[in-house]
Amino acid sequence: MKRILTGDRPTGKLHLGHYIGSLRNRVRLQDEYECFFIIADLHTLTTKPEQTGELKENIQQMVLDYLSVGIDPQKATIYVQSQIPEVGELAVIFGNLVNTPRLERVPTLKDVMKDAHITIPSYGLLGYPVLQAADILMVRAHLVPVGKDQVSHIEVTREIAREFNRVYGETLPVPEALVPQDLGTLPGTDGKTKMSKSAGNVINLSDSVGEVEKKVMSMYTDPKRIHPTDPGTVEGNPVFIYLDAFSTEGDKAQVTSLKERYTKGQVGDIEVKKYLVKVLNNFLEHIRKRRAEFEKQPELVEKILQEGTQKAREEAQKTLDAVKQAMKMDYF
Ligand code: TRP
Repeated sequence: MKRILTGDRPTGKLHLGHYIGSLRNRVRLQDEYECFFIIADLHTLTTKPEQTGELKENIQQMVLDYLSVGIDPQKATIYVQSQIPEVGELAVIFGNLVNTPRLERVPTLKDVMKDAHITIPSYGLLGYPVLQAADILMVRAHLVPVGKDQVSHIEVTREIAREFNRVYGETLPVPEALVPQDLGTLPGTDGKTKMSKSAGNVINLSDSVGEVEKKVMSMYTDPKRIHPTDPGTVEGNPVFIYLDAFSTEGDKAQVTSLKERYTKGQVGDIEVKKYLVKVLNNFLEHIRKRRAEFEKQPELVEKILQEGTQKAREEAQKTLDAVKQAMKMDYF
């Protein structure tokens, strides 16, 4: 069975954008592939080395997010990066197989520096893709499902794997990025192109019924529309994008009717938004239920993480053994 690795940095709660962009895809993939889902806490140090105090809670919330959307620990391995020392060893080795101008050219570096107001990157930030290569090659993944923005990192991973194989002999499989076809970027509640925590325009998977209602009722819609009788625009309108993304078969007729009436100026924003509140809360209901089940059993959640990390570590040890053997560094 082909192996998959992907994951997230534990920077906070996951939201509907994560669901559309990656989580729902992972739930599908876990049936077809051997999946490893990494909680990449070491990667958060590259921009926020002083905020390690919040990692434990963030990791906890992230596992709950994963489990609540239906990632099944019986099928997939969820693990914490920093508890696997072999990752660091591999990263040290891999750091010698890529040069610094190559890493400086990785496009995400400039973006991250701009967003985090960093003028000079640390050694760790420059090496972000090297650490990610260690994650991926550590479990000898064949496929890495990621968003478009991460493809440049997978390219670095591929180059490192090829270079390792060239220098030390065929050892590491060269993985491929698996980029979702259905361009799944969900806009924010403010209408900005991307839902993101830093923009403050998110609906979290763990939001309550009331929070969802509050956020939806103040959502950005068609700015040109002042009165309910003004003809409105459905295309690109986040309220309708969400309706399309989260409505069920049973909602279809109503969504179509709302779109028609909106275009003709026969329905107010309030009515459309109220319907969206219902649709979203229906969708989130299953997720909330599963979350509540796991929240009641913190020992189980901890066990899932511990066992997942143990399993991933065994893979890491196998890889590191093979790597050291290839390098003739298996001294004793
Ligand atoms: N860099 C990824 C992100 O920010 C997170 C990540 C860390 C990752 N290691 C990984 C993703 C390995 C895929 C594979 O989203």
